[in-house]
Amino acid sequence: MYMRVRTANLKRRSTLPLPPGPRGLPIIGNLLDMPTHYQWKTFARWSEEYGDLISVKVLGQTYILLNSLEHVIELFERRGAIYSDRPTLTVCGEIAGWGRTTIMSHYDDRLRNLRRLFTPLFGTRKNVEQFVPVLEEQSHRFLLRLKNNPDDLEAQVRKSAGALILAISHGYCIREENDHLITISRRANDDFAALTVPGAFAADFLPILKHVPAWFPGAGWKRFAQNAHRNVDAMHDAPHKFVKQQMAAGTATPSFASLHLSDCLTPDEEALVKDAAGSIYGAGSDTTVSAICSFFLAMTCYPEIQRKAQLEIDTVIGTDSLPNYSDRERLPYVNALLLEVVRWNPVVPLGGYRCLTQNDVYGGYAFPKGAYIIPNVWKYLHDPEAYTDPFQFNPGRFLPSGDKKPEKDPRTMAFGFGRRACPGMKFADASIFMTIARSLAAFEISKKVENGQVLQPAQEYTSGIVSHPKLFPLSVKPRSAKMEALINTVHSDQP
Ligand code: HEM
Repeated sequence: MYMRVRTANLKRRSTLPLPPGPRGLPIIGNLLDMPTHYQWKTFARWSEEYGDLISVKVLGQTYILLNSLEHVIELFERRGAIYSDRPTLTVCGEIAGWGRTTIMSHYDDRLRNLRRLFTPLFGTRKNVEQFVPVLEEQSHRFLLRLKNNPDDLEAQVRKSAGALILAISHGYCIREENDHLITISRRANDDFAALTVPGAFAADFLPILKHVPAWFPGAGWKRFAQNAHRNVDAMHDAPHKFVKQQMAAGTATPSFASLHLSDCLTPDEEALVKDAAGSIYGAGSDTTVSAICSFFLAMTCYPEIQRKAQLEIDTVIGTDSLPNYSDRERLPYVNALLLEVVRWNPVVPLGGYRCLTQNDVYGGYAFPKGAYIIPNVWKYLHDPEAYTDPFQFNPGRFLPSGDKKPEKDPRTMAFGFGRRACPGMKFADASIFMTIARSLAAFEISKKVENGQVLQPAQEYTSGIVSHPKLFPLSVKPRSAKMEALINTVHSDQP
């Protein structure tokens, strides 16, 4: 009986079509159809013609686009056992060594052990509260950096996100200028951005090319990847060495690495802690930068929303002090503003790609083993069924009013799904809250005026895996002399 059912299933699978999609050319498939910019918008538009399940093939690789939330819940959550692997990127993952990081790991026991290390520190809001003193100190330092360099928002946000991550991951306090660990981590992450540009490396489509020797003419890509390997190793080794030295000297502060390393660990367990801690910078820094810069863009463009949030802070906290993490519950509008920042222009518009580990059947279509599955998170967060006027920046949508219930919490989508969902979500949420609440309390954010002309920000974003607001003009000034004095009470540099 069992055998008969199995055979019938296999037979049905082999005759089912792939989901529909643009018709490709021989050999290259849909290479020419694949958008290079704002892929999420093109993918969303394709739904009008092909529906919410779409397939494309590029040089023999099948991609399946999930344009509706209902599909991603069914596949990434209910069928998570076979939809939780990541694609093998030959150049980035293997040759350049990024396969050791949590985000790039295959779905196996090692990955499950890596993720288990995150749970006791970042798994719940309560766990994250042990890092509140670091969050409060680092967000205050950010205010000082931005006050001193108001024309350099992106650089100050980036420095501050890196400083926070290294404080949390390894208990390391950065130097304001030319910090050694920031340089090492940035170098590796710049490589990562170059290594993951879609279609940049032929060896990702033709893995046999990985055997080309590095000295071979035209193999510059391989030398680049090998150098990137040294950089990613340094990104793991250097902070690990630092924390071990601090622990030996009895001066380590609580951090992801020190808290785990204080248990007696076997060499394999220690290597796992090193990999998990070393990959936090890559996963948590650039993403936070995007969210914070989006917040400043929104505040520049929508002054009435800024005023409403500031009024809430002034009423609840007063104008003489900065909000603390414990004030969060008392600031519903600021919380709603955070949710709208997360929804408006999602940091990772196409979520985390998955690689299907077994043939599957879904919605009457064949989903072949090895297909890359892409959730169009941007589309879910702009679904007019879920969000009224989805292209408008409106924090009020997340507050109950009369009979109207708050709209869907975007964090359930923007941080991924199921077994690979972002393990740093609760921490990211807390850190973004601290930065935006304190920036609202401290600064007047407005459009820049140059030679009597008001400069309008373009509201444009970049197209990478992590999407950032493109540089935009703005003015940032302390809200009062008292506030300026308060900002100055934090020291900015390592002693
Ligand atoms: C605005 C901030 C952030 C956003 C929007 C974000 C979003 C994401 C997304 C979409 C994924 C892929 C999820 C999936 O495949 O379904 C992910 C993975 C991950 N994130 Fe975050 N993240 C943020 C901040 C952070 C922070 C602060 C940390 C660390 C403290 C972190 C650690 C990680 C790790 C380690 C992974 C890999 C998980 C895995 O592959 O199993 N993230 N994140």
